[in-house]
Amino acid sequence: MANFLIEGENRIGGELPIHGAKNAALPILAAALLTRRSVLHNCPDLSDVRAAAHILEHLGCTVQREGDTVIVESDDGVYCDIPDGLMREMRSSVVFLGAILTRCGRARVSFPGGCELGPRPIDIHLASLERMGVNIKEDHGDLDCTIDGKMVGTELNLPFPSVGATENILLAAVLAEGTTVIHNAAREPEIQDLAGFLTAIGAKIHLKNDGTIVVEGVETLLPEVEYRVIPDRIATATYLCAAAATGGELLVTKTEPEYLAAVLPMFEEMGCQVKTGPDLIYLKGPRRLRPVRMVRTMPYPGFPTDAQAPFMALSTLAQGTSVFVENIFESRYKHAAELMRMGARIKVEGRVAVVEGVPALHSAQVRCTDLRGGAALCIAALAAAGVSRVSDIAHIERGYERLEEHLSSLGAKITRE
Ligand code: UD1
Repeated sequence: MANFLIEGENRIGGELPIHGAKNAALPILAAALLTRRSVLHNCPDLSDVRAAAHILEHLGCTVQREGDTVIVESDDGVYCDIPDGLMREMRSSVVFLGAILTRCGRARVSFPGGCELGPRPIDIHLASLERMGVNIKEDHGDLDCTIDGKMVGTELNLPFPSVGATENILLAAVLAEGTTVIHNAAREPEIQDLAGFLTAIGAKIHLKNDGTIVVEGVETLLPEVEYRVIPDRIATATYLCAAAATGGELLVTKTEPEYLAAVLPMFEEMGCQVKTGPDLIYLKGPRRLRPVRMVRTMPYPGFPTDAQAPFMALSTLAQGTSVFVENIFESRYKHAAELMRMGARIKVEGRVAVVEGVPALHSAQVRCTDLRGGAALCIAALAAAGVSRVSDIAHIERGYERLEEHLSSLGAKITRE
């Protein structure tokens, strides 16, 4: 695997347009199975997106990229299975399940295993699909799913507002017989974007403010669509963290400040100056960061779990103690041990991490443990004295388009090894 070499203590500043959202593009690519031709603009060029394209190609679609536009054509002969190797390329491949079921009336996919964030169960996905009339059998690690006739709309109460489960239900419900009501559905902007895409191909979806989604099944969907993926809120937060950690001044463009309503006040609490425009965020880092009293990760509109690691990197340099409570994933502090190699002082106890800020970090050899944890290590390395080697950067490439090129254009000294 490749590494980054990062020489720290260089300010991150300038202007940066943000790429499209990975977590919106992936379910929308799965949804492309439900129409013949999808033209998707602002589709980020990431290894996870390429993995989704491989799945579509395996299923019989053609996928072409022209700049940031991806064109998916899906003709009649669509297969209904995803082999184990392709499922493992990307954990969120489970979102293809609902789309394949709607398109083919059956599906065979391998059971997604655990991942670097701990066990990733899909019980909510499966229980919901079963309630909609899908027969699911586990067969040697594969899920064999069949439907007698059509899927049927029903009332579902999710025990947790799971993003992936909400997406699978939406994909299953659009052509189901009757109305599906999802109570306690996920409300992330990426869910709104998937609903936007499905609506553009003729689905009838009503997103209510209280977290209920109502989907009225329709008979057919439209054959063609052109759609623009929303900007990536987590990439936005990550670059802002890089500027904040190095005392820089950054203008992020082509983004959506509203998606970061729970995050931007944290930057202010840490002493950053923040200004927003319709699709812009400006941030100026202070000479010394202040601590953030409490970061509790929550489902949207709360503080996103995906921004926890980048903020932890930032808080290691604050003048005082910051507390993090991770409420979404069981095991999402693996970056803490790596940050400690750079001189950070962090204590982790179950879901809580206490970070005692230090005046400066020093360079070290550190290893990415997961996508956002890897981004956190880059932020720390950008601020640290000396040259750090960040290894296993394939994790980072799942979610950040040309990170080293963008950081270099903003004043970082970063090379790939
Ligand atoms: C999505 C995002 C990921 C983000 C997460 C939470 C994508 C591709 N990934 O992941 O970046 O960190 O939302 O915002 O969009 N759970 C169950 N049973 C289930 C489903 C989930 O117990 O059937 C649990 C999970 O183990 C986890 C929590 O619910 O602890 C949240 O998971 P979920 O919202 O489903 O996240 P993902 O869709 O996997």
